[in-house]
Amino acid sequence: MPSIETVAEPLVSLRDLHLSFGANPVLKGIDLDVHRGQAVSIIGPSGSGKSTILRCITGLLQPQRGSIRVGATEVHTLAKEAQRIELRKRVGFVFQQYNLFPHLSVLENLVIAPRKVLGRSRAEAEKEARALLAKVRMEHKADAYPGQLSGGQQQRVAIARALAMRPELILFDEVTSALDPETVGEVLTVIRELTEEGMTCVLVTHEMRFAEEISDIVYFTENGVIVEHGSAAQIFQHPSSERTQEFLRHALGDPGRRPANANDPYLLTNLSRYSLSV
Ligand SMILES: Nc1ncnc2c1ncn2[C@@H]1O[C@H](COP(=O)(O)OP(=O)(O)OP(=O)(O)O)[C@@H](O)[C@H]1O
Ligand SMILES: [Mg+2]
Repeated sequence: MPSIETVAEPLVSLRDLHLSFGANPVLKGIDLDVHRGQAVSIIGPSGSGKSTILRCITGLLQPQRGSIRVGATEVHTLAKEAQRIELRKRVGFVFQQYNLFPHLSVLENLVIAPRKVLGRSRAEAEKEARALLAKVRMEHKADAYPGQLSGGQQQRVAIARALAMRPELILFDEVTSALDPETVGEVLTVIRELTEEGMTCVLVTHEMRFAEEISDIVYFTENGVIVEHGSAAQIFQHPSSERTQEFLRHALGDPGRRPANANDPYLLTNLSRYSLSV
């Protein structure tokens, strides 16, 4: 009988990752695992290396030491850009800036990569694009151009565009931090639904309550190291490190004042009030 470890091999595995920009060491021995179907959040102060970790997972940055595995791909060994492009077909990446093609309609933004990169027929790509737009409640804007949409709507289209490649996992880097507060909820709702459907997700976020509610595992980074990781309950309710405690005190406010204000748009139970503007 296979051991549980064999069955549950992580989809993403980082081991002893070291990366410097010039003389500036930014990652100093990162170990991180993401299992299929998990939502994993990376939290920590600005400059602690969170985005750098995500960029290593997609092969956008090459570490000087350590290993990165995504499925069967040893990412740190990929020498050719063509191999990294292959990897990026399997790993969706959604950033703070939506980066939609401004001259293409919403529908065309979703159709272009599956057609050009995956070789799908127009009919198939369009059918899937419309289904994904419905999933993010943007089907009514299929013919609009990105410039005609709110930030939250553009970000939902960006998520649908990433999903159109049928990725094995999606990385989200601060996807709501450029949004007006009233559109944050609609984007968080979409991400929460994806995690509930079992999409493997890695989220870098400053929205602590959201991370607490949706994450299976939370990693706290500081100064290029993982200070601690564990279940969302462990990290948010009983952090063992003094540094994590201090960070969460600042990020969440005084724990004695929780649960949060009933009108807090970041609290998932309140999202419906803010969600899905048309
Ligand atoms: N391309 C680059 N060239 C040089 N230094 C960089 C580069 N990208 C990031 N850094 C540095 O690496 C460190 C970690 O950056 P990173 O973007 O990973 O932090 P972060 O945790 O995502 O921060 P934030 O929460 O502000 O987004 C920072 O000190 C940053 O200045
Ligand atoms: Mg960042």
